[in-house]
Amino acid sequence: MGENLSATAKRAGEAVDGERLWQNLMHLAEFGARPDGGVERHALSGADIAARTWLIGEAERRGFSASVDDIANLWIRRKGADEGAEPVIVGSHIDSQPAGGKFDGALGVLAGLEVLTALDVAGIATRRPIDVVAWTNEEGGRFDRSCTGSSVWSGAMALEDFLGDIGADGVRLGDALRLTLDATPDLPRRPRRFPARAYVELHIEQGPVLEAENLDVAAVTGIQGVRWLNVEVAGTAGHAGTTPMTGRRDALQGAHRAIAALNGLMADPQDRVRFTVGRFNAFPNSPNTIPERAVFTIDFRHPDKSLLDHHSERLRPLIEAAAAPCAASLTPTLFMDPIVFPEDLVAKIEEAAQALGHPARRLASGAFHDALYAARVCPAAMIFVPCRAGLSHHPEEWTEPRHARAGARVLAATAAMLAGV
Ligand code: GLV
Ligand code: MN
Ligand code: MN
Repeated sequence: MGENLSATAKRAGEAVDGERLWQNLMHLAEFGARPDGGVERHALSGADIAARTWLIGEAERRGFSASVDDIANLWIRRKGADEGAEPVIVGSHIDSQPAGGKFDGALGVLAGLEVLTALDVAGIATRRPIDVVAWTNEEGGRFDRSCTGSSVWSGAMALEDFLGDIGADGVRLGDALRLTLDATPDLPRRPRRFPARAYVELHIEQGPVLEAENLDVAAVTGIQGVRWLNVEVAGTAGHAGTTPMTGRRDALQGAHRAIAALNGLMADPQDRVRFTVGRFNAFPNSPNTIPERAVFTIDFRHPDKSLLDHHSERLRPLIEAAAAPCAASLTPTLFMDPIVFPEDLVAKIEEAAQALGHPARRLASGAFHDALYAARVCPAAMIFVPCRAGLSHHPEEWTEPRHARAGARVLAATAAMLAGV
C-alpha cells in the first residue's frame, strides 16, 4: 500500500478524545433504549430515524457534511485536500438487534465521527477525504436480509431486490425506506456506488478472546462465511384431543425432527461450525390444535467455504426426509462466503496499534460485518476491541471506555495513514 505510519498519523490517534466518544455512545443509546439497559433500534424504524437525525446534526455542528444514498446509507464527510481522490471510508451501523446492546455497530460509527474531529483538533489535513458511513440494516433483526446497505453499495445486490422485503412487523422495506429518506428531505444524495481507497470498521469483538488475553485491540484477519435460510414445514391442523396420533401431520413435530437431524449434520468435534435456530414459530399456536405450519430460521457459519458448500447441499434432502410426512420448503436469505482481509492492511492496523501503545493480536471474526461487502469494492479491514464476557446481541453488552478509546485511536491513525498525511 505504500504508506507508512508517520508521526502525523500517530498524532491523529493521540488527538482522539475518549470522553467525547463515550458521551456520544451513551447519547446514541438513548434512541430505542430498553428498560433493561439495552437498545432496540430496528433499521429504518422511528428510533433509527431519530438517531440518524441526531447524528446528522452532530456531524454538521462539527463542520462535516452529511449525505445519504438511495438505500439510506448515511455518509459524513471530512474534506480532503484533493476532493476528487477516492475517499477512505470508516464506519459501521447504528441499527440493533431486537434486544441489542449499546456498542454493536454504534462504536464503529461514533468512533468514525471522533476520528474526523480528532483530525480537526490536531490540525491535520489529509489528501483524501474521509467518509464515515452508517450502513442501513446490518443486523437483519427487522428485515431478514442483513447488510442491506453495504450489499447495495458494493453492487452485490440491487436496491430494487430489497424493496419488497417484509419486516418482522409486517412493514415493507420500501415503505420504511421512503419514511426514512423523507425525514431528511434536504440531505444531499450520494450515488449508490462509488470507488473508495479503503474501508476500515471498528467493532466490539463479540467474543471472549481479547478480554481473556487482557489486550486492548485486535487486527482482524477476515470473516467466516455464513448461510441463512428460512424453513417452512407444512402439516395438517386438527383437534388435539380427538385426532389419533397415527397418521398425524404435525408441523411442529416435523420441524423438531428436522432440527434434530440438523444438529447431527452440524455436529463438529472441533467446535468450529456455528449452528443456530434463532427464530421458531408455530401456527395457529394454540395449545389444543395440531400445528399446521411451523417456520424456523437456520444460521450456520464456518471459516471454510468447502464445508459451507458441503453442508448446504445436504440441507434440503435432510430436512425433507426428517419432516415427512409433513412437507418442507427452504428459502435461502443470506449467502456470504468467507473472506480474508489484505495482509498489508492488517499489518498497518497492527503497526498503528503498536505505535499508540496498544499491542494487537490477530483474530478472525465469527460475526459477519458490512466489511464483508465493502471488501468487494476496496481493500477492507477491521479493528476489534474487547467486550465484557464476550457478550453481544444482548442488552448487557459492554465495552470499557478505555477500550472504546483505544479502538478509536487505532482507527484514527489507520485512517490518517490511508488518507495520506
Ligand atoms: C452480525 O450481526 C452477525 O450476526 O454476525
Ligand atoms: Mn455489528
Ligand atoms: Mn450485530
